[in-house]
Amino acid sequence: MRNLQINLLNNQYEILIKSGIINSIGEEISKIYEGNEIALITDENVDKFYGDIVKKSLEDNDFKVLKVVLKPGERSKSIESLMKLYNELLDFKLNRGNLIIALGGGVIGDLAGFCAATLLRGIPFVQVPTSLLAQIDSSIGGKVAIDLPSGKNLIGNFYHPRAVYIDPQVLKTLEKRYVNDGLGEAIKYGLIKDKELFEKFESIESYEVLFEYIEDIIYKCCSIKKQVVEQDEKDKGERMILNFGHTIGHAIEKLENYKGVSHGEAVAIGMYSIALRCEELNICKDGVANRIKSLLYKFNLPYDFQVKTREDIIDAISVDKKTIGDFINLILIEDIGKVFIHKVTHEELEKFI
Ligand code: GLY
Repeated sequence: MRNLQINLLNNQYEILIKSGIINSIGEEISKIYEGNEIALITDENVDKFYGDIVKKSLEDNDFKVLKVVLKPGERSKSIESLMKLYNELLDFKLNRGNLIIALGGGVIGDLAGFCAATLLRGIPFVQVPTSLLAQIDSSIGGKVAIDLPSGKNLIGNFYHPRAVYIDPQVLKTLEKRYVNDGLGEAIKYGLIKDKELFEKFESIESYEVLFEYIEDIIYKCCSIKKQVVEQDEKDKGERMILNFGHTIGHAIEKLENYKGVSHGEAVAIGMYSIALRCEELNICKDGVANRIKSLLYKFNLPYDFQVKTREDIIDAISVDKKTIGDFINLILIEDIGKVFIHKVTHEELEKFI
């Protein structure tokens, strides 16, 4: 078992990483929650494997559980799903002294977290992330949100969970493509802050071998995220480096209507693309883009995007929520493990795409 503590100005919570912890969520919750009622929010895919295991573990520890099962996929991060959730939780008479558990990937974590942040002005919640992406990124750091038709995560807040319980074993029931999706973000951590982690990925011969190291990889990624979030909880400075590859990535996701290309895949394309430009502009050491490309290729992640034109990507970036006034904060790379924030105007943006 590994654990990490997130220490914020007004808040702290623990991340527990332990194989098999999915079977003892009830015991873990009883250590941090004294109430009775719990709303367990999940989706149909996760429910098939873990919904009843978690519900039973909670009931065995004398909790009264309402399980809400949503449709899988980004479309559930909508105002409509949120309204449905609010109503079901209020019918169950959930109150501010109770607890919400988000059992699922990033969509469930973001939606259940946003529901927890807003219903009755805030109900405590716990994250049990079941995708690699959620385990190493979205479940940590308190970003909760829903989407609007005009873009992802446009309504949101910072609302931290009371605890995060990560079971690496649950990744075994995840479709390979979605493990790869999380790998895009895991590789990102190496690129932004940890050369050794990047080189670890380079040394892993295949996808199959990767699982032998998965607990260490999750721990390493969570440690980097902890460090960044503790330094800049509200995403006003240092935390923006987590968006390496995301400016182009978000644009690609948007142009694809959030179908066809997953978040990690889009970020993979974004990371390679910006590294290549940084190299061409002599900002980045020679050979870095090629190393990124080889690694993405090894883990079946895309690095190239041909269908859309540069102009489409630039237009899509212009409506990205990270545009502040007339500027966009681009994350540029100098070397493996070394990135920096660079403010550009819309006109200057073209140079980097
Ligand atoms: N996923 C980026 C962040 O938490 O800031």
